[in-house]
Amino acid sequence: MWAYVSELLNADSLSPHGICLLWRPDLIWTHATSDMLIGFSYFSIPVALGYLVSKRPDVSFNWVIWCFAAFILACGTTHFLSIWTLWVPDYGLEALVKAITAALSVATAVLMWPLLGKALAWPSPAQLAAANRDLTALIKERDEALVALRRESIDRQKAEEMLRQAQKMEAIGQLTGGIAHDFNNLLTVVSMNLDRLEGALRTHADAGVTRSVAHARSAAEKAAGITARMLSFARMGQVDPKALDARDVLKDMEPLFRNAVQKPHELVFDFDMNPCPVHVDRQQFENAILNLAINARDAIPKTGIVKITVVAEQKMIAIGVTDDGEGMPESVRQRVFEPFFTTKDVGKGSGLGLSQVYGFVQQSGGLVDIVSAPGQGTAITIRLPRAGAEK
Ligand SMILES: Nc1ncnc2c1ncn2[C@@H]1O[C@H](COP(=O)(O)OP(=O)(O)OP(=O)(O)O)[C@@H](O)[C@H]1O
Ligand SMILES: [Mg+2]
Repeated sequence: MWAYVSELLNADSLSPHGICLLWRPDLIWTHATSDMLIGFSYFSIPVALGYLVSKRPDVSFNWVIWCFAAFILACGTTHFLSIWTLWVPDYGLEALVKAITAALSVATAVLMWPLLGKALAWPSPAQLAAANRDLTALIKERDEALVALRRESIDRQKAEEMLRQAQKMEAIGQLTGGIAHDFNNLLTVVSMNLDRLEGALRTHADAGVTRSVAHARSAAEKAAGITARMLSFARMGQVDPKALDARDVLKDMEPLFRNAVQKPHELVFDFDMNPCPVHVDRQQFENAILNLAINARDAIPKTGIVKITVVAEQKMIAIGVTDDGEGMPESVRQRVFEPFFTTKDVGKGSGLGLSQVYGFVQQSGGLVDIVSAPGQGTAITIRLPRAGAEK
């Protein structure tokens, strides 16, 4: 083998190609220039291919690209040798380089054919664009489903929270109602005996005993007031519903409201022009709105506005009491309807006002809604079924 190669490389008896071209400069330089340009072009192609493969390692079949680069490099080398052999008869070296080029070309050609099927199966740009569109639509669908799911989960959480709250109020209502009922019976006994005592004292007057009985009577009346509010919260109070126009009731109560909300506060009424018929217990209704107005006044630290509105909606009559007072945090808002829940100082609030409102609204088939935030005032709206409206 070695002997064959050294014989091949022996150029002693050979002449350079230039002799065949009779050293004609036009032929020599046309050949030389063309081979040089072809050689440089062939050398630049593998550089470009190598750069492409190094930057895009994800390109399929990149090993074929390497084979192709080697083949082109070898082709380029043959052209440079053609220039060399114009002057130097190194035909052996040229033959060796050609042999290597031949091996590389055959290998590349053989490897490329089986790839043809796979390459033809590659998706066309139009197919890729269509797949991309399908994928985008799928992503949009999935995103919408996710948003709906999230919304549903928030709604469910809200519904669960409302159910928990309703169950809690129901349980507290039963307990409160039970205690208030028995307590009320006992109070009736106390009041009846006080009546008797007062009767007896009219014939045997004794100033000291009369004073004590009067104190006992006043305490019994206060206690009766508390039990009445507790019973009202538990929806166990005596009610006598009648058809009324909410605006008329509240107009009649104006002096009471003015007495409750005095200067420097301002009291504003805003009543619907249309009839606002409701079917409720008048006493309970009056108590509820007065409770709301007093709470609104108490919530204003210095001076502010208490507004009482009546709006006739399609199926409901909305009575709102709004103030621009201190408002309440969420933790307070969630508990305000519980009986005996108060943030007021001892002796200033019993925590039964909004419980009465709650009981009254429930008993009347209505709804009560509170919008409040610290420093932003409070708006409490009672919605009562419109009398005569279809359910
Ligand atoms: N308009 C309002 N602005 C801010 N907080 C309020 C308002 N209305 C009610 N609250 C809060 O709700 C709590 C409960 O009110 P509720 O009327 O049941 O009891 P109270 O006013 O404390 O006592 P009372 O039995 O004398 O009415 C109040 O202590 C207060 O913290
Ligand atoms: Mg109150």
